[in-house]
Formats: sequence, C-alpha cells, structure tokens
Amino acid sequence: MPGSYPKVKTAVVGCGSISSIYIRNLKSLFTIIDLVALCNRTREKAEEKAAQFGIPKVMTLEEIAADPEIELVVNLTPPGSHYEVTKRMLEAGKHVYSEKVFTTDLSQARELADLAKSRGLYLGVAPDTVLGAGIQTARRILDTGLIGNVSSGLVSVTRSHNLMSELFPFLQGQCGCLPYDVGVYYVGALIALLGPVKSIRAFAAPAPVHEKQLLFLEHTPASWQIPGNNLVCAGLEFKSGALVSMHFNGNTVGDEQSRFELYGSLGMIKVGDPNVFNGRVKLLLPESQEVEFPFTHGYDGTNTLSAPTSFDGSGHRGIGVAEMAYALRQGRPNRLNQDYGIHCLEILTGIDEAAATGSTYEMKSTCHIRPLTPGRYSTVWGSARADAESALID
Ligand SMILES: NC(=O)c1ccc[n+]([C@@H]2O[C@H](COP(=O)([O-])OP(=O)(O)OC[C@H]3O[C@@H](n4cnc5c(N)ncnc54)[C@H](O)[C@@H]3O)[C@@H](O)[C@H]2O)c1
Repeated sequence: MPGSYPKVKTAVVGCGSISSIYIRNLKSLFTIIDLVALCNRTREKAEEKAAQFGIPKVMTLEEIAADPEIELVVNLTPPGSHYEVTKRMLEAGKHVYSEKVFTTDLSQARELADLAKSRGLYLGVAPDTVLGAGIQTARRILDTGLIGNVSSGLVSVTRSHNLMSELFPFLQGQCGCLPYDVGVYYVGALIALLGPVKSIRAFAAPAPVHEKQLLFLEHTPASWQIPGNNLVCAGLEFKSGALVSMHFNGNTVGDEQSRFELYGSLGMIKVGDPNVFNGRVKLLLPESQEVEFPFTHGYDGTNTLSAPTSFDGSGHRGIGVAEMAYALRQGRPNRLNQDYGIHCLEILTGIDEAAATGSTYEMKSTCHIRPLTPGRYSTVWGSARADAESALID
C-alpha cells in the first residue's frame, strides 16, 4: 500500500523547461516522494520554481552532496551535463534518476552503471512514458497473447526538428538530434514491448545547416547545424526474432507525426505516440474492424491534481522516479534501471555505427522490463483519488 513505506527525501537538479511537470508530480502526486530541494546552475531559476511550487530549500550541488538526509537526486539537466551531475551525486552516495539520454557517450554510461553497482546505489533513466497507460496497455495485449507472436514492426517519427531547435536551444547541442531527443521514446517503447535488441543495420544523414526563421527570438544565432544524424532508417533484429523497421526524420516539415505498428501471428496493434502517456492502442484481428482498446492501466497523463496548467501535456513524468523509490524501499530492482538506459543508448549509438561502417552492429548490452500490475487507475471522485500508485509496488 502507498503510505506504508517511508517517504524518500529527494532533490531535483536542473530547473528548465521540463522541470515544472516533474516538480508538481513529485511534490503532489507520488506520495512516496518527499521533494525537499531544488538546484540549478543559475540559482534564480531554482528559487523561482521553489516559490512557485512551495519547495522548502534551494541548494547547490555540493550542499545536496553533503546533506545526509537526501537519498535520491533527479537529474533534469541537458544531456551534456548528465554525466558530471550523475557521477557527482553517486560519489556522494545518492541514488540517481536521470532524464534521457543516460549520457552522451556509451562508455560514460557504463562507467556510471559500474559506479552505482559498486556502491549499492540505484540508477534510473527516462523515458518513463513506457510506464504510462498507453504502452502498458500495449504490453498487456502482447502478454495475453491476443495478437500471437510478433514477427515484425514499423515505427516512424518525423518533424521539423531544425525549427524546433530554435524554440528549445538545448537541441542545438549534444544528443539534440531527432533520434536521440525523440526517437529514444520509440526505442524505449520497443524494448518495453518486444524485449532486447540483438543486431542493427542502418542508413543515416545529418541535419542541414539551419538558418534562423522565427522572428521573435532575439538571441538566436543566424545559423547552426544540429550535431549527429537527424535522419535514420534502420532495421532492428530483436532477440525474440521480431524484425522492426525504424524511420526517424528530423529534416522534414511540420509537427510530430507518429507511427508505431506491431504485426503478430493472430492480429496486429497500432500503438499511440510513445512520447506521451495516453497514446491509444488500436487492435486489429481477422474479420473485425479496427477497435480502440480500453486502457488496462492508470497514469494516462491526465492532470488529477489541480486546475489545468500549461505543462499538463507532459503528463505523468516522474512515474519512473516513484517506481524507483518503491524499488529502493522494497529492496528490488527498479524497472527503468541502468540496463534499460544503457540498452536505449547503445541502440542509438549502434544505429550511428552501423550507418557509418555499412556493417551489422551486434548489441552488447541487454535488459528486461517487467510490466506494471494492471487494473489500478487514478480515477477522481471530488477530492478523493483512486490508488494508481499501488501499481508501482511489487
Ligand atoms: N523540454 C522538454 O520538453 C523535455 C521533455 C522530456 C525530456 N526532456 C529532457 O529533460 C532534460 C532537461 O531538458 P530541459 O528542456 O528542461 O532543458 P533546459 O535547458 O530547459 O533546462 C536545463 C536546466 O539545467 C540547468 N543545468 C545545466 N547544467 C547544470 C548543472 N551542472 N548543475 C545544475 N543545473 C544545471 C540549466 O541551467 C537549465 O536551467 C534533458 O535531458 C531533456 O532531454 C526535456
């Protein structure tokens, strides 16, 4: 039962765009977390968020490291800072949950995983949308055998990532390209649904040099090129034997267009956008119309806490932190652990390597994500909220 475990004293490091949804959910939604402190390189940002959400303390990284009461640190800095912040916090004996991607370099991710293991500390890594209602419902359909054995899949995401990098400048930096920034949600969802990847073949292309288009942003440079491959076409062979076609194109136009289909021996499913918590799953069986499958799990991203906010669209981010906090209290592995973070990152770097060498990339890492307990919803009756959080307890 939620409430029967001691709360986990937690600090958030990095108070930028995504932090509001985390801070709101960690403070008010997930009862296992006691959010006691915020930290940001420029202190004013942390002070602003602390005042907005009623968080007691603003601290430096070193003050967090030295505070024996803080057990868990949530790293919401940009990918280029993930390694240094996570490493410092692990060295200080803190459990760490990091936003995606784990690090910008696979060897650094492995180093952090070894460091955590040697100190008996927990590590967790986003994307945590895989624990949301959409992907968990898709997993339930697969686990109950409704579509039989999955033999293949097709996933695609496209958008004008170059234009998007004007609005979100961190996309102009390391791991800002579409495969690492958005494709990772598709990679995480595929792992959660089909298990680990065995080998990869791929083609790739860089982003073009982008010239500033949006008039109202005064401090944007005149032009830049997003580093890395912004377009990839890859073939993934899963250990299960399933073959998946992957297409991520950030060099095209418009908002995000998502496609995610899995084909089985008895039927097929169309999975909703894995970058959100409420992607609806559609089921197709022989001799039937396509039907929308009802959610079998809670955490569909709906705000059950307060009047609508501008950041509600980011859904139930923080669920991975809460699941890790219960894992810590229960002394069991967390679902989105270092193996998941490393496997996601190795798939992305493996695609780059396969494209650069023209040969097959054989995966070295593996991981396994257990599904959450179904049937727990976050229905609201007036001020009473149902107990979706018990799905995070094994
Ligand atoms: N923006 C989104 O919509 C979004 C969505 C999902 C996940 N994410 C992920 O969340 C993370 C943060 O993204 P964001 O959009 O909030 O970035 P952001 O650039 O808006 O904010 C990052 C904050 O971290 C601070 N920071 C950087 N290095 C630091 C350090 N060493 N110590 C303390 N503070 C430091 C910066 O000052 C900044 O305020 C990234 O990993 C990103 O991939 C972002």
